Amino acid sequence: MFVDEIRAVVGSDHVFDGAGTSHVVDWTGRFVGVTDTVVRPGSIHELIEVLRVVRAHGRSVVPQGGNTGLVGGGVPLRGEVVLSTSRLNKVGVPDTASRRIEVEAGATVESVQIAATSVGLRYPVDFGARASATIGGTIATNAGGVNVLRYGPTRAQVLGLEAVLADGSIVSTMAGLLKDNTGYDLRGLMCGSEGTLGVVTRAVLRLVPAHASVTTVLVGCASVADAMSVVGRVCHASDTIDAAELMSRRGVSLTSRVTGEAVPFEAEWYVLIESSTSQDQEAVLARLLAGCSLVAVAGSPSRRRALWRLRDEHTSSIATLGTPLKYDVTVPLESLPRFVAAVGEAVTAVARSAETIVFGHAADGNLHVNVLGASAEQAVDEAVLTCVAAHRGSISAEHGVGTAKREWLHLTRSADEIAAMRAIKRALDPDGVLNPNVLLPPL
Ligand code: FAD
Ligand code: MLT
Ligand code: ZN
Repeated sequence: MFVDEIRAVVGSDHVFDGAGTSHVVDWTGRFVGVTDTVVRPGSIHELIEVLRVVRAHGRSVVPQGGNTGLVGGGVPLRGEVVLSTSRLNKVGVPDTASRRIEVEAGATVESVQIAATSVGLRYPVDFGARASATIGGTIATNAGGVNVLRYGPTRAQVLGLEAVLADGSIVSTMAGLLKDNTGYDLRGLMCGSEGTLGVVTRAVLRLVPAHASVTTVLVGCASVADAMSVVGRVCHASDTIDAAELMSRRGVSLTSRVTGEAVPFEAEWYVLIESSTSQDQEAVLARLLAGCSLVAVAGSPSRRRALWRLRDEHTSSIATLGTPLKYDVTVPLESLPRFVAAVGEAVTAVARSAETIVFGHAADGNLHVNVLGASAEQAVDEAVLTCVAAHRGSISAEHGVGTAKREWLHLTRSADEIAAMRAIKRALDPDGVLNPNVLLPPL
């Protein structure tokens, strides 16, 4: 019997029925799946053996890390086996000379950040789910976060990785050589593949210097256009800007109420800017923000943490109002203010009583459009995502496509591109063993 064979591979403690566990429902609560089998391999060899048994029984798996994904890509929506990387969580000793660290896929982002900080370095991918999101999940979704502006998304940190393909074969670039042009970029292919082409088991990650001087500033603006001109001015004048995050009055006041964190001043829109370098940047930022009447500089690490909490806790604070329809999109910077106005109107046109809260990574053009109180999901999907396409944007900036947006992929990818992706999927996973129900549109 299937589960007996799986139990023989990983042991009874590491295979169980998923019913009633957190493994079958995504972080937002919107995507609820079912499975008779959650399995936690303790090594790459056990993982390969599990995949052999899965193939022999004609089943498929959903690889699962921290289950913080926001597009329904990491839960068993069609009875797939949940392949959890939670036991593959070792974090190596950072190599300070070459500024890199070797980790297992199930290690959390935060555990890698802590290891880097312990030697005066920094792992630059950061976002609110750092304590649960895993390195494997962030590679699979090419996660972005608040520091993409300066350091790039997860893909830019991956010097090498090891992954198991559907047939149990292994691709590995764990030497993590800075220059290694030997054929197709299999490492790059795994980044953003959402568990559909391979199960990432290990990675070599880049670390960056942890600068001594960090300046964090909250700026109040009258409009999105004002906010984006502040972002443009600061980001073009300084190469020490790590983050520039946009928030609305509604998002900040809601998060302040939920977290109890005080807001330094009232404004229609807010930009949270962080700069890090070796010398103090307060004077530089003060000059760049000279025309802004509402500016609060964090005078201490605790004040900095308090300002960041107003941003980090947006997602969980919005979730206190109900399960939102979440749209993680990118639009060209120059059309961002027009898009914010247009998307609010587009939602109201199809869901009159719905509320739309917009926030995100302003400097990347990456906005998170959260729609609350709308029942007509399909209509709101279409309204928001066609509005993105009309502004020449991308329907998925950093969360991946998952199951949430696979039917809308054509709004950003051409028919030829989708056909090429299907050809790659057919070549590497002809039997649909790995996460067959996400990313690519259903045939
Ligand atoms: P899971 O949710 O477990 O899985 C995500 C996807 O990756 C699934 O398709 C899964 O099958 C696949 N997968 C997981 N592990 C592996 C593996 N080892 N090999 C192959 N495939 C695998 N994301 C951002 O990009 N930027 C943000 O700013 C951000 N902020 C967030 C804030 C909050 C509060 C929350 C809850 C989420 C946020 N996210 C953000 C979304 C989420 O944290 C990321 O998508 C993250 O990469 C998911 O990691 P995970 O380990 O939880 O993956
Ligand atoms: C964020 O930037 O906070 C995340 O991407 C989460 C979200 O979109 O809610
Ligand atoms: Zn984000």
